[in-house]
Amino acid sequence: MSVGSQDAAAVGGIESTGYRIAVVGATGAVGTVMLQCLHERGLDVGNEIVLFATARSAGKVIDGRTVQALDDDADLSGFDIALFSAGGDTSRKWAPRFVQAGATVIDNSSAFRHDPDVPLVVCEVNPHALRGSGPDYPKLIANPNCSTMQLMVALAPIHREVGIERLIVSTYQSVSGTGQNALKALDAEARASLQGELMPAPEIYPENIAFNVIGAAGSFAEGDDHTDEERKMMFETHKILEDETIGVAVTCVRVPVRTGHSESVNIQTREPLSVARAVELLSQARGLILENVPTPLRAEGHDEVFVGRIRRDSSHPRALSMFVVADNLRKGAATNAVQIAEVLIREGIVVASTTA
Ligand code: A2P
Repeated sequence: MSVGSQDAAAVGGIESTGYRIAVVGATGAVGTVMLQCLHERGLDVGNEIVLFATARSAGKVIDGRTVQALDDDADLSGFDIALFSAGGDTSRKWAPRFVQAGATVIDNSSAFRHDPDVPLVVCEVNPHALRGSGPDYPKLIANPNCSTMQLMVALAPIHREVGIERLIVSTYQSVSGTGQNALKALDAEARASLQGELMPAPEIYPENIAFNVIGAAGSFAEGDDHTDEERKMMFETHKILEDETIGVAVTCVRVPVRTGHSESVNIQTREPLSVARAVELLSQARGLILENVPTPLRAEGHDEVFVGRIRRDSSHPRALSMFVVADNLRKGAATNAVQIAEVLIREGIVVASTTA
């Protein structure tokens, strides 16, 4: 059986039929892309995909499948894998229930990322973490934050070669990272402004986002001078690269781009690294494409991370700068979650409980 067969899905040449896969948040910005990724990667052939969202969406049909309400009447039994992208509160409430019912949950929210027993996995970087460290395989797996995800794909080859001492990152994060409602708000604000009308009052962000730049993406916990987005990048970088000594200085910024996060990254390495060697390492890395000047518009719809503007930072003998761009809905969220599902299947970490 080869990948792409019309008869049955196969992952890396291994049969992957008979799985029941739930997608929670299937109507959302990330959930709809998860469905596309499952389709593109052949996982919807020979496997059952069941869609969940709120009662508001129950009965909607997406690609021939009817959305079910995730409520106390929902039947959670018989799932092998559940992909969650419905916000932290939904994950906190429902992910343990899916696990209890027998599924392995891959959660796109930040709800469980800090739990030391929950692997936080970027498939190109630390797939070994999916096996866990205890006698049993972990039943709950966290998908990293979108900005951290793309950064890790670009940094891991460098960290492996020479070690990273310190990072300075500024993000330019798109609106789709906040969900469908944020995209609608951007459209409404832009349309009003282009028609010479007053923009509607901001509902999603503290300021209007159309034709603007908001220098603090995310929200502030009381007394904190960093946003939750910035804290995520600091914490998750350490967990994924398995090195808590890396200094991470980060500013997360929201920009009026629909899809695709961009990052200006300054990397101070432990050992010297030439630009030529960095380019060589990155050109050999999986899931990464080198471009002169990557842009979110060109990255949109692609699963790879785009890296460009790799250059020496003349202010420090062991520092390089680069620009990193990826589709936040794809590699930043849906693609990686589906890749995790593929690894679980390929490695036999999750075995189908039924035969389709
Ligand atoms: P719905 O479309 O019915 O509101 P986004 O990130 O684009 O805002 O999408 C969030 C996704 O999570 C949507 O699919 C949304 O469903 C879903 N969702 C939000 N809250 C819940 C919940 N309590 N139970 C199930 N799905 C939820």
